[in-house]
Amino acid sequence: MCAFMLGDTQKLEHQSTGKAIVAEHLCKTFEVTKGVLRRTKTKVAAVKDVSFEVEYGELFGLVGPNGAGKTTTIKMLTTMLIPTSGSAKVLGFDVEKDVNSIRKKIGIVLGGERGLYTRVNAIDNLRYFADLYGVPIKVRDKRIKELLQFMGLWERAQDRVETYSKGMKQRLHLARGLINDPQVIFMDEPTIGLDPEIAKETRSMIKELVINGKTVLLTTHYMFEADELCKRVAIIRNGKIVALDTPSGLKKYVMDTSVVQVEGFGITEKEVTEFREAQEILTVSAELGEDKQILKIQTPKGSEIISQVQEILKNSRIYDIKIKEPTLEDAYLRLVEGEA
Ligand SMILES: Nc1ncnc2c1ncn2[C@@H]1O[C@H](COP(=O)(O)OP(=O)(O)O)[C@@H](O)[C@H]1O
Ligand SMILES: [Mg+2]
Repeated sequence: MCAFMLGDTQKLEHQSTGKAIVAEHLCKTFEVTKGVLRRTKTKVAAVKDVSFEVEYGELFGLVGPNGAGKTTTIKMLTTMLIPTSGSAKVLGFDVEKDVNSIRKKIGIVLGGERGLYTRVNAIDNLRYFADLYGVPIKVRDKRIKELLQFMGLWERAQDRVETYSKGMKQRLHLARGLINDPQVIFMDEPTIGLDPEIAKETRSMIKELVINGKTVLLTTHYMFEADELCKRVAIIRNGKIVALDTPSGLKKYVMDTSVVQVEGFGITEKEVTEFREAQEILTVSAELGEDKQILKIQTPKGSEIISQVQEILKNSRIYDIKIKEPTLEDAYLRLVEGEA
């Protein structure tokens, strides 16, 4: 274990009592002005009555489609936005009353390339953020070295960040989020837009953090990522949590169903709609692969519906039909798109 990740006794005492994060009936409504000549105000309820708790040392996932309210929730928990109503505590501190205490003790990692100074090297970047967080000079340089070694960036630490690959920049982002030795780290879609290899690397870094005792709240819209990483997952839809459980607990929602996966070509929107409207079909998702279309049809009927599938797709080319065990992705689709 790296020295920078060792908690002090005060933290351990804290851990034995409370929760790392508590959100209670959090709501956020934005007021937006529309129109040029006649300006009208409308309200957007981004987060509606969100409550959950995260244990110390837990990796908790907040998943949901675009616009579901994930970023808004993270912003309220990290004191970047004031809740319209409800309350939240991070490390026992109130997000409205104890803003400075929270900011000093948490780390924030956002996806993309925002927030790094590319004209200077990694050490200068981290020194800047360390000073911003008030990390004592005595520990600053030692921690920077440990973090850069942990992230595999020490050999390139003197080079300008603009010469780094995307993956190296992402690792520097993670180092930046850890510079104040935070006990709780918030990551908003940390693997979005990354190449598969780099995303994988980022996921193993995240796992490593939790092994080292950190608490992580992560948002993602990749279900396999939530399944691989998270101890528990909250699914958020239209600003509300619609399910909260372990990945295997969530899969139980779809235990009574199976997934008929069709690979083919020439499948039309009309045919997909026909599936959506069929009574024994719960959800349908359509993806476009490189040289084929993939339909995933969730049904309680299993292989019984294969002839119906063939009938609907009689004008398309079918390469393959198979029955699969439902995954977390299927549970998610059912919860987000279905009536559940
Ligand atoms: N500053 C803002 N002003 C107005 N509406 C906003 C603002 N930020 C977010 N929203 C709206 O709130 C909803 C939730 O957004 P967001 O929390 O960013 O979702 P997610 O991160 O899950 O994609 C969306 O409908 C979005 O358009
Ligand atoms: Mg977002």
